Amino acid sequence: MMFSMEMLPGIKACVFDAYGTLFDFATATAACRDELGDKMASLSAVWRDKQLQYTWLRTLQGEHADFWQVTGDALDYALEALEISRPGLRSKLLDLYLKLGTFPEVTGVLRRLKAAGMKTAILSNGTPHMLKAAVDHAGIAGLFDEVLSVEEVGVFKTHPKVYQLAVDRLGVGRESISFQSSNAWDAHAASAFGMRVVWCNRYGQRRERLPGMPDREVRTLGSLPEILGLQSMRV
Ligand code: LAC
Repeated sequence: MMFSMEMLPGIKACVFDAYGTLFDFATATAACRDELGDKMASLSAVWRDKQLQYTWLRTLQGEHADFWQVTGDALDYALEALEISRPGLRSKLLDLYLKLGTFPEVTGVLRRLKAAGMKTAILSNGTPHMLKAAVDHAGIAGLFDEVLSVEEVGVFKTHPKVYQLAVDRLGVGRESISFQSSNAWDAHAASAFGMRVVWCNRYGQRRERLPGMPDREVRTLGSLPEILGLQSMRV
């Protein structure tokens, strides 16, 4: 499976995870490089880890709070754990989370998919407000048919209701959807649900020992059009 470029046939819609897949969450801490110094990378990692843990823990507890709340709570934990107490930094980082940079290949790949007539969507833990801000900031709003937030179903990934939301809203069977995520756990869950999955393994993660198995593994989204057989429609 690893880095196989073999074509994935019969795909009618491409659904993307947001944070870490389209949007680079490390650009928030990178923009505070001067304030954070040698704690920059640690803050980014702890913040992200806690953010994800809180989504799973709150789901288990039946104590849902939206991703904006969870992102702020995780940041508070990370700042305290790393003993960072600079005034104004919390609000600066959260503001930056609404204006994250995109990975370099993202806009070009989305353009190629749309030019080939592919349906496209985001499916993310992010709130509608967070996703709109990120998409607008990146100037890619017009490249998606749907921007779907888990808030519509009130539960975080990896609940199957989340992946079902994309099926319902796109009107495309799960087996005809290619789901792209950089998060191995998200990739496995979408596969277990019945979607085809291209795991964009930007972070060099190990595969999870969980239900499901991604169909393809790539390092960036750059090869997605080829994998979907769209190479002749280069724009
Ligand atoms: C998301 C997180 C998991 O966008 O990255 O859903």
